[in-house]
Amino acid sequence: MSAKELEGYYMLKGGVFQDAGVASRELKAVLSALGVPAHQIRRVAISAFEAEMNVIIHAVAGSLSYVIGDDEVRITVTDMGPGIPDIEQAMKEGYTTAPDWAREMGWGGGLGLPNIKRNSDGLKIDSKIGEGTTLEIVVSLRDGQEVPGNGDEHR
Ligand SMILES: Nc1ncnc2c1ncn2[C@@H]1O[C@H](COP(=O)(O)OP(=O)(O)OP(=O)(O)O)[C@@H](O)[C@H]1O
Ligand SMILES: [Mg+2]
Repeated sequence: MSAKELEGYYMLKGGVFQDAGVASRELKAVLSALGVPAHQIRRVAISAFEAEMNVIIHAVAGSLSYVIGDDEVRITVTDMGPGIPDIEQAMKEGYTTAPDWAREMGWGGGLGLPNIKRNSDGLKIDSKIGEGTTLEIVVSLRDGQEVPGNGDEHR
């Protein structure tokens, strides 16, 4: 595995569903090639996928980048707005402002951010109205104890 593959950068555009899942899928493949345990790979993939979907559904445009370290994966997802007015409210399960077109595709359950929180070991959200939102997600790659039925996977 070359050092280059331990980092990735993907552009995301609002409404462009063809891009959805590309970043999380490639990250998953790299972790798999590195021999990371399946449980951790799943947590990374869920977190990355929910974050990229949020840019595609709620934002104008943005990017996802990742860095794979020895002990953890750091994923940064940043966009150019509109921003989140109330982060605490946005974190609540079931809260959504997803537009009709996204709901018609089955999105808009208000589950994405809580799902990232559950599947990551660190989540920091910065948002400014009119400027944009940045998520910094950390997922540990250490082989932790897998607890059955801990609500890991939500979808
Ligand atoms: N990148 C973002 N830019 C602006 N608003 C966002 C962004 N990400 C989330 N939000 C806001 O936070 C709300 C909750 O997000 P969350 O991902 O939990 O649910 P959802 O995207 O609405 O539905 P689901 O993820 O279940 O499809 C969104 O409805 C939206 O109002
Ligand atoms: Mg979402």
